[in-house]
Amino acid sequence: MRIGVLTAGGDCPGLNAVIRSVVHRALTGHTDEVIGFEDGFVGLLEGRFRELDLNSVSGILARGGTILGSARLERARLREAADNADELCARYGIDVLIPIGGEGTLTAARMLSDAGMPVVGVPKTIDNDINGTDRTFGFDTAVTVATEAIDRLQTTAESHQRVMVVEVMGRHAGWIALEAGMASGAHGICVPERPFDPADLVDVVEKRFARGKKFAVVCVAEGAHPAKDTMEYGVGAIDKYGHERFNGIGTTLARELEKRLGKEARPVILGHVQRGGVPTPYDRVLATRFGWHAVEAAHAGSFGHMTALHGTRVVMVPLADAVTHLKTVPEDRMEEAESVF
Ligand code: F6P
Repeated sequence: MRIGVLTAGGDCPGLNAVIRSVVHRALTGHTDEVIGFEDGFVGLLEGRFRELDLNSVSGILARGGTILGSARLERARLREAADNADELCARYGIDVLIPIGGEGTLTAARMLSDAGMPVVGVPKTIDNDINGTDRTFGFDTAVTVATEAIDRLQTTAESHQRVMVVEVMGRHAGWIALEAGMASGAHGICVPERPFDPADLVDVVEKRFARGKKFAVVCVAEGAHPAKDTMEYGVGAIDKYGHERFNGIGTTLARELEKRLGKEARPVILGHVQRGGVPTPYDRVLATRFGWHAVEAAHAGSFGHMTALHGTRVVMVPLADAVTHLKTVPEDRMEEAESVF
């Protein structure tokens, strides 16, 4: 079997571990050949690829980013790929394409699959918001990075008796904010799923100060926003899910809390540092398992599916299940978190 692999969309710690695993399983568990397309679907369309052998994936397990490069592709060019699905497979002689990516990439994978291309998807995102899988690799690394950052911010906040507002990634789902906030003992967590009232945050912080505590940390997802009429905030844009999107919530909220509390507040935007660097052992293991199962699924002819973690087992689920909606933070998870603010 000849396998094409690519990484598309935003990068994520663990991508290289999947590529390595695919190559190992294909070459040593089977007698396959593997080619890697550069810069995601762009390389597929433009004919930029290279043969992958065991040496080309040596030493990459712990390396962040992706050795293949990644890019986002406009919808029109994706259509072009779908319209030429058969020709693309014939051009490269591939029997299956394994795209590794997030919601956008899996939607593209589904489009290609519907157009007749044999596709096995592998989900990735630090946001952990892909439906159909309990976890995506990259999430554990992002939570670890964010937790360590908040741990560090607690000590400087205490020294200066400040309120720190830490903005983490998560445009549509607040999994990173929830788990990094819980793990680091943040005193407030704001997620996109549940509009927040700044008065509630002020209440928690004031109660802390009344108990003699001299600092507080609030962890806010980049996609979080205030409930209607609770604070002055510009007009957001409507995204493709029909959600209102605001920019710069960390900075705006820090300013608001400083004003309401009469205490110094500082915003800290973690940004892409959550996506870079070495994946955690958990993410390396999950990524390696996904790679193994993707190759096995290709041999079993489970096209139009993606690897998924259900409990502790890796299973295959239809791509259609993954892309219909995002997996968001349920209300009961927020209640658990709030009980320890
Ligand atoms: O989906 C992963 C993610 O890191 C989001 O959390 C974030 O909003 C987005 O990608 C950032 O994308 P870009 O790298 O294009 O700025």
